[in-house]
Amino acid sequence: MACYAQQEKGLRGLRDPVSSALWIVHLVEMSPMECTAPLWAVVALLLLFSATPAYSSKCPKFCICDNIQLTVACIGKNLTEVPPTINEITVKLDLRGNDIQELPTGAFAHTPYLTHLSLQRCNIRRVREGAFRSLGRLVFLNLANNNIEILYQESFDGLTSLKQLLIDHNRVEEIQPGAFSQLGFLNLLSLTHNQLVYMPNMAFQGLQNIKWLRLSHNSLNNLATEAFAGLFTLTRLSLDHNELQFFPTQPMTRLPELTRLDMGYNPMTYLGEETVAMPKLTHLFLDHMSLQDFSHISLALAPRLTYLDLSHNQLRVLQPLSGPQKLARLNLSGNQILCNCYLRPLREWSIKERVRLVGACAGPPHFSGESLESVHPPELRCQSQEAMLKAELEEQSRVTPPPTPKPNRVKCPTNCDCERETYHSSCENRGHTKVPRGFSPDTRLLDLRGNHFHYIPGNSFPGVTEVVSLHLQRCKIHEIEGSAFNGMKSLVYLYLSENDLSSLSPDAFKGVPQLTYLHLERNKFTQFPKAAFKLLPNLLALHLEHNSITRLEQSILSGAEKLRGLYLTGNVIHSVAPKAFVPAPDLDTLHLDPTS
Ligand SMILES: *[C@@H]1O[C@H](CO)[C@@H](O)[C@H](O)[C@H]1NC(C)=O
Ligand SMILES: *[C@@H]1O[C@H](CO)[C@@H](O)[C@H](O)[C@H]1NC(C)=O
Repeated sequence: MACYAQQEKGLRGLRDPVSSALWIVHLVEMSPMECTAPLWAVVALLLLFSATPAYSSKCPKFCICDNIQLTVACIGKNLTEVPPTINEITVKLDLRGNDIQELPTGAFAHTPYLTHLSLQRCNIRRVREGAFRSLGRLVFLNLANNNIEILYQESFDGLTSLKQLLIDHNRVEEIQPGAFSQLGFLNLLSLTHNQLVYMPNMAFQGLQNIKWLRLSHNSLNNLATEAFAGLFTLTRLSLDHNELQFFPTQPMTRLPELTRLDMGYNPMTYLGEETVAMPKLTHLFLDHMSLQDFSHISLALAPRLTYLDLSHNQLRVLQPLSGPQKLARLNLSGNQILCNCYLRPLREWSIKERVRLVGACAGPPHFSGESLESVHPPELRCQSQEAMLKAELEEQSRVTPPPTPKPNRVKCPTNCDCERETYHSSCENRGHTKVPRGFSPDTRLLDLRGNHFHYIPGNSFPGVTEVVSLHLQRCKIHEIEGSAFNGMKSLVYLYLSENDLSSLSPDAFKGVPQLTYLHLERNKFTQFPKAAFKLLPNLLALHLEHNSITRLEQSILSGAEKLRGLYLTGNVIHSVAPKAFVPAPDLDTLHLDPTS
């Protein structure tokens, strides 16, 4: 049986009108001193304030004004503009949680003494040139959690005293040249959780006193050579949780004072010779990446390094590092370090140079789980001649560092087959218990059917941004962590059939916006996994056949607004809510037959 979903249009586009009633009367905040005064004094004070027309008119409706601290707070009131009647001597203005949409030129012209301005969660999409022009005393500006997409050339003009600028959790994808050119006193610029992909030359020109630049949680995959030009005072740079496949050697040489670099959670697979050329760097974080090779002279030009974090990579062995003279700690936890004869030089070096090794041996079996510090160099052996040869061959296939990727050899994890011509990689039925890493970045089809993953942790597929089709059938999966497929920007087909899924995290499909065909048939759902499709604006077909879903509630398809086919054959559905399919106006195929 196939029936057709009725379309219900006309519901989208309607917004609740902002209620104009029920606003609270403005209050005067009392300092503790006043609160301990006799009651009559308090009453008299209140009367005095409420009877002073000059003051009342200066505290805008819906706001709370403290005339002693010179602060005004209008929080969560759905205000659509900056209230025009704020007392001009105000120094702190808090407008969090309103609905301002656009900040016009001169938006704060009436309050020139402001030092602190909070504008989080205001639905701001656009900051016009000169919006803050009159605020020459402002030291702190918070624009987090808005919808800003572009930072224009003169967006921050006039903020000549500003020390901290927070623009986290917006949608910034473009920084126009000169956007920060007047912020000569800025110490901290925070742009985390935005949509930056590329950083152009001179993006941060003019930041003459900047100390810390935070660019974490963007999608940066390319930095222009002069992206960081002019940042002569920067000491800390956060670039973690981006999509850099190679260490940006050239751009980093423009940062002479940098001491700390956070680079974790990027899909890098190797670090070649003299990659890190940073004379003052002391702390380098390269954790949670996909490093398989690490040249022993990659840090030759980083003489002051004291802490190196290589935790959670795919390293099996490491040679003694040359370059850093004062390395105190080397974190190797979460790697697959083999404590055999190949590790001996590193262990000897760490004793001699007093470098603390953090981490444990992954093998051979008699050392498995032992901390690296506890094994003595003579114990690091490759037993017999034969075993040694075997280990050597094995090591060669795993460890031989290609300093640059060889154009005619396709990258492929152990126990998988990868074909260069077709861009297909397969590890089907190989008994893998973890999602293998280290596939060639141009892989298009990834076939992982019939393994034993049981659970797919976050960011399980780093560096395979070109994969279009991912096969995970019959992998005994019962849980998919949030952001599991993060970074698979080209993913269109995802096959999760014949697993043990009974629910899905709302973030399970975060980071795969192109996903179009999703197969979840023959799992163990008893409820429709509704929240999970919010992040799939391009979903066309959803297969949930042969589960045990009992009913379809209201708005189960919210977010999947382009859905055309919903396949639910072979479930036990006994009730369907009237508005079950409301947010999917294009739905034209719906299969609900209990058996096929
Ligand atoms: C603000 O608007 C939203 C949605 O329009 C509404 O739910 C909320 O109650 C409003 N808040 C106030 C304080 O009026
Ligand atoms: C080593 O890295 C792990 C995992 O990233 C971290 O939890 C631990 O604190 C680090 N240890 C040291 C001593 O730096």
